[in-house]
Amino acid sequence: MASDASEVVRVEEVVKDFRPGFGLRVKRVLHGISFQVRRGEIFGFVGPNGAGKTTTLKILMGLIQSTGGSASILGSDVRETDFRKHVGFLPENPYFYDFLTGREILRFYAKLSGVPAESREERVDTLLDWVGLSHAADARLRTYSKGMLQRTGIAQALVHDPDVIFLDEPMSGLDPIGRMEIRNLILRLRGEGKTVFMNTHILSDVEMLCDRVAVIVHGRIRYEGRIEEFVNDEGRMSELVVSGVAPEVAQRIEEQMGGELRGHGERIAIRLREKHVGEALQLVLGAGADVVSVTPERVTLEEIFLNAVEEGEKDSPGSGARPVRSLHDAAGAAAGISRTAEGGR
Ligand SMILES: Nc1ncnc2c1ncn2[C@@H]1O[C@H](COP(=O)(O)OP(=O)(O)OP(=O)(O)O)[C@@H](O)[C@H]1O
Ligand SMILES: [Mg+2]
Repeated sequence: MASDASEVVRVEEVVKDFRPGFGLRVKRVLHGISFQVRRGEIFGFVGPNGAGKTTTLKILMGLIQSTGGSASILGSDVRETDFRKHVGFLPENPYFYDFLTGREILRFYAKLSGVPAESREERVDTLLDWVGLSHAADARLRTYSKGMLQRTGIAQALVHDPDVIFLDEPMSGLDPIGRMEIRNLILRLRGEGKTVFMNTHILSDVEMLCDRVAVIVHGRIRYEGRIEEFVNDEGRMSELVVSGVAPEVAQRIEEQMGGELRGHGERIAIRLREKHVGEALQLVLGAGADVVSVTPERVTLEEIFLNAVEEGEKDSPGSGARPVRSLHDAAGAAAGISRTAEGGR
């Protein structure tokens, strides 16, 4: 398989069927999904409940086998085991023995992961400090808050200092402060050069954290791309509201900058591409008119996501609909901006 050094995870045409029981119909949960995760990035695997996120992660973790396609981590097929020492994993619902203390559970995992006895205590102390649990190290897990348990789970995933960390819904069930703490930990991981893969459906966290995302709906990848692809999209629109603009100035904005004008009389609203806003403002102000407001049309990940889910509902199940491949197209679709067809192919 051609693999490039910057590529940490490669998923190609992965299919997963579940057999609910003898004689029952096979249920296809992943319909040939493909995506890549690159070194050093925080990758968000985003989708609604039941989309197939955990199933995909279990395949990557070697906990279940795919029905078809291939998946590799750090260039090794996920059915191999050697590369696992470079991989950390926080499951969806980590279960801890709650009569143990934070220190004891980490000691246990350090032992399991083969951290040598002589460096184990030091490693556990470092981890406790790293996730901000030193003060509670000797309290039993049953006294921990959800956020503290989740941080224990992250510490557990890091016990053997892996290069790649997989997190299944690391923020679920946490309050805003708990989420912020986990976000900060994830950002620090990236700061240390780690690659982070996370399953989530909390879009604000994705927007704040992720470098790239793939959106999965009903077992199909709908979008894959960089967050900036739509956040800094040159083609994005802004609305300019101005007053006292002479008709010839308005006409120039319309003709030379492709502005769409609404309203008449004193105040007009002009919708135009963001890249023309500066020029238009100069023209308006230079002509002695007033600028009332400038409002960029922000397409949020939420709109893109809802759009993807809606499209997914229409296509599913089993239609031959072609998935939209880039967030650029998604942003356009969500904003109702028409784009050239070639982008969606
Ligand atoms: N062992 C199994 N047997 C049969 N069906 C399964 C099995 N595991 C998962 N599924 C089904 O596969 C689909 C995808 O489930 P999965 O847990 O991967 O979704 P998810 O995206 O992680 O959802 P959530 O956001 O709720 O965690 C669901 O329809 C689920 O019911
Ligand atoms: Mg899940």
